[in-house]
Amino acid sequence: MKSSLIRQKFLDFFAERGHEVRPSASLIPVDPTLLLTNAGMVPFKPYFLGEEQPPFDRAVSAQKVARTVDIEVVGTTVRHFTFFEMLGNFSFGDYFKEQAIPWAYELSTEVLGLDPDRLWFTVHESDDEASAIWLDVVGVDPTRLQRRGTDNFWQMGVPGPCGPCSEIFYDRGPEHGPDGGPVVDEERFCEFWNLVFMQFIQDDPYHVIGDLPARSIDTGMGLERVAMLLQDAPSVFETDVVWPVLQSGASYSGARYGESPEVDVALRILADHGRSVTMLIADGVVPSNDGRGYVLRRILRRAVRHAWRLGGEGLVMPRLVRATVDALGSGYPELSHSEPFIVDVVEREEARFRRTLESGSELLDAEFDRLQPGEVVSGATAFKLHDTYGFPIEVTREVAEEQGLGVDTEGFDREMQAQRERARASWKGGAAAGVADTYRRLLDDTGPTEFLGYRDEAAPGRILALLRQGDAMERAEEGDEVEVFVDRTPFYAEAGGQVGDTGMIETETGTLEVTDTQGPVPALHGHKARVTRGYAQVGQEAQLSIDSPRRERIRKSHTGTHILHWSLRDVLGDHVRQAGSLVEAGRLRFDFSHFRGLGPDELEEVELRANRRTVENAAVSDRVTSKQEADRIGALAFFGDKYGEQVRVVRIGDYSIELCGGTHTPSAGQVGPLLVIGESSIGSNLRRIEALSGDAAYDYMVGVRRALAEAGTMLRARPDEVPERVRALQERARQLEERLGSLSDRDRAEDAAALAAEAETVGERQLVVAERQLDPGALRALALAVRDRLRSGAVVLGSRHNGKGALVAAVTADLMDRGVSAADLASAGAGLLGGGGSRDPELSQAGGPHGEKLTEALEAARDAAGRALVA
Ligand code: SER
Repeated sequence: MKSSLIRQKFLDFFAERGHEVRPSASLIPVDPTLLLTNAGMVPFKPYFLGEEQPPFDRAVSAQKVARTVDIEVVGTTVRHFTFFEMLGNFSFGDYFKEQAIPWAYELSTEVLGLDPDRLWFTVHESDDEASAIWLDVVGVDPTRLQRRGTDNFWQMGVPGPCGPCSEIFYDRGPEHGPDGGPVVDEERFCEFWNLVFMQFIQDDPYHVIGDLPARSIDTGMGLERVAMLLQDAPSVFETDVVWPVLQSGASYSGARYGESPEVDVALRILADHGRSVTMLIADGVVPSNDGRGYVLRRILRRAVRHAWRLGGEGLVMPRLVRATVDALGSGYPELSHSEPFIVDVVEREEARFRRTLESGSELLDAEFDRLQPGEVVSGATAFKLHDTYGFPIEVTREVAEEQGLGVDTEGFDREMQAQRERARASWKGGAAAGVADTYRRLLDDTGPTEFLGYRDEAAPGRILALLRQGDAMERAEEGDEVEVFVDRTPFYAEAGGQVGDTGMIETETGTLEVTDTQGPVPALHGHKARVTRGYAQVGQEAQLSIDSPRRERIRKSHTGTHILHWSLRDVLGDHVRQAGSLVEAGRLRFDFSHFRGLGPDELEEVELRANRRTVENAAVSDRVTSKQEADRIGALAFFGDKYGEQVRVVRIGDYSIELCGGTHTPSAGQVGPLLVIGESSIGSNLRRIEALSGDAAYDYMVGVRRALAEAGTMLRARPDEVPERVRALQERARQLEERLGSLSDRDRAEDAAALAAEAETVGERQLVVAERQLDPGALRALALAVRDRLRSGAVVLGSRHNGKGALVAAVTADLMDRGVSAADLASAGAGLLGGGGSRDPELSQAGGPHGEKLTEALEAARDAAGRALVA
């Protein structure tokens, strides 16, 4: 039975029993607590929890599912995958076990035709109810019903719905393992259907805290597993939906399935990972360094590594993608539409990773040669592989494991930590490593700086410390450059892309001009300042005031950045993630994940939607809340930042929610115009957009308008007519150039005629010898034009060009017939020029570096011609 038929029979069976047929949801779940859709019930989770009213009581679906928990065992068993399809029937407070169990049995035996005598069943150890239904209602053999503990309890997330479950297994026969049922061997007794009796809510794994609003049903049948049983395939990899993908991996590498256990594992991994990668990208995931983009990247790299070990020409991923699209296209017609895009993404990612593999392999191989099985790759080597060659630690670990080696991951972590500290120590001030300690000690002494700047632009504070090049000092004199630390400040320290504030600090005795504010360690605001008057002293009261107009412009850029972020996601899709930003007065830069450059239409659309939002002028609000709550409401977080338990959430209207510590305008309208002025690539799958906000955007537009007006005046055209006029001018210039070209043809004809008219007579023949300042091409053309005007004879022209000498000789056809060769004439002079010439008898060219000998060379050529013409 083909997989597509199994799918259809399942859906029909439950549709006939009052179930709403639901299409598969995306692998990118709406649920923000989940990275990927990892079960058929994911789209229905709010119905189980009672958070939403379900529009139907019963549903049935075939759901795409991605699970990476089993990634390590994929390939080593007959039944594990990272991508598969799950068939499921669901009840939301409608029927329960008494109905779900008999239906499952009926479908398995009567519709799919599985032999009832080979079915085994498990129930949770406490579930007498389910046990009774199996034995008394369905009437199965009690020796084939087993009870288990946590294996038969299913849960989704914390907090989340959960409940005991009952699983159905198929005995593949004694050749696949020992007797004793699923509690003994799950390769022989293969689970294919899980019936979950959703009943409770938990706050920790296995820690039930109460009942769901209603008792519900969630079942999941692995499509490929059932296909394996019905198609009598030895493993899920040999079913109709997977085998072609495996075969494409085999044909790539030239390896044969069944050749050796290692080859089989590798080919299975290629098949599974190829399917995962295809389906993830089809749903909009692109490779990146965090979240689901990283999951994708890991799977793809793992596949490439196995292909690399097997060997093969070119790239493997595009083949796996095409095979997957062929195999699954009937169930997911949208796949063929996105195939070119998927191929494009995998090609680039694979090519890049192969370069990494090539460069790091040598180091790794050297390390392997040194080590005995059982030993470990040092943390320093693992770090070097990571840092210099871009080898992810898990790749190093996997490769090492294949060689029977371990990896000192703790040593690796230590090296990473050390590197982070080095990076922090070389922080913006360019301070030496020891300075980081100074700041940390300072923080211990003074405690964190209280930041008043969300509300105040000027405030009093007390000077707690003064540092000059990392050294503490009591008093700073006029002209000193210092870092000032106070107990409370309105100055924003650079963070989250937003630049630090500038402004003024005044004490009773002096004035300091603040040129920047940085947080050398989080929670400590260092004011970089110069004493411009008098002196300042630790312990003094100070009045701190920021440069308000500058801050105002920074605020506009920051709110503008959030709006642009929203707009990018709105236009390009939800895979767009912030990868970094720079928020300055009037100007902003936003880095984000996307797989290709934006076209002019896309950029315009992004800008248009952003500006519609500013004009709409929704309120901007912020509040501090728990990270958990922020996740729940779907706040976008930038993964380069560290967030504590408490986070600040900035909201614009109802469309933008981001975790952000920056300063913002009270409403979107104050951003002013947002003008995109550039878009570029800054790495693989990483783009950078640059934009102007507020008055900077306005000034820019005025400048452009002025330039256009000026061009208009010059062209006597309205600004909107300028492009048309410029096009017309360009066309005219082209025509003129053409005419100039024919003009020079005419010049040449005149010159040739004059030279031919003055030809010397040698016997019955004519000879022209002359010098002209022409480039070699023009010299050749002139020689031919002269030759064509001679009845019978030869022409030798010479030219000095860039210090070199060139000769061109040509003879008429009758002379060629008599054995006179232009090459002999040209080469007679070529020697004097210090070079040689071509051997063409009709038109020969010669030349050499000694341009100063040109006159003599022409004479030599003339002599040779004189002799040849009379012979
Ligand atoms: N949610 C259960 C599973 O994923 C049954 O659908 O196994």
